[in-house]
Amino acid sequence: MEREIIKTLDGSTTIHLKEWDECYHSKHGAIQEAKHVFIKNGLSLFGNKPVSILEIGFGTGLNTFITFLEANQKQQNIDYVGVEAYPVDASEVLEMNYVTELGALEFDNIFEKMHKCEWNNKTEISTCFSLTKRKQFFDEIDDYEIFDLIYFDAFGYRVQPELWSTEIFQKMYNSLKPNGVLVTYAARGVVKRSMISVGFTVEKLAGPPGKREMFRATKST
Ligand SMILES: C[S@@+](CC[C@H](N)C(=O)[O-])C[C@H]1O[C@@H](n2cnc3c(N)ncnc32)[C@H](O)[C@@H]1O
Repeated sequence: MEREIIKTLDGSTTIHLKEWDECYHSKHGAIQEAKHVFIKNGLSLFGNKPVSILEIGFGTGLNTFITFLEANQKQQNIDYVGVEAYPVDASEVLEMNYVTELGALEFDNIFEKMHKCEWNNKTEISTCFSLTKRKQFFDEIDDYEIFDLIYFDAFGYRVQPELWSTEIFQKMYNSLKPNGVLVTYAARGVVKRSMISVGFTVEKLAGPPGKREMFRATKST
């Protein structure tokens, strides 16, 4: 599929898939979206406690890098698993401007390490952050109660409805520990119904810039 690198409204880059007219991040601001959906409404619920995270769609590594920056500041231990079936080309990664846009030049080597580390092996990215990039399809995930938090960042329902199905959310539910939390930028009724049908309690929260709402789902016990 033809791809192009574009700038989103907050100045940060993303990848645009022309055929689908779908981006890896919000056109209203890739960094703003990542901070709002995944950090403010997800990671921050855990304070300074150690957190194990599953990311659905490692993609450009933006969510992973922002999570590292947060954790590093708080010296919080993070065990991060990023699942991705179609890794982004190294040439495209080089065109992503996240390190400069986040004012994180001193961690340039960390962003590079996140991309260069081996697939399917746990890598100590820093003393408090370990990363396992799993080259895997989402429907192959079969973890059981090992994650505290899921960043559900698949492409939208409009282009990949099969990834927002009860089958996939059942896998997400199973992989979370009791009281675990899933956050996503999505806010469609059909998505909420799938989440509820597998047992999640779903909250509608204010969305990131350019989007009214988003969901947070909890594995209540
Ligand atoms: C919205 S993007 C993720 C953006 C990413 N979180 C980031 O920060 O750059 C969705 C990702 O899901 C991946 N993907 C699409 N279908 C998949 C599937 N069935 N299994 C695994 N990965 C898939 C895509 O290659 C893409 O990287």
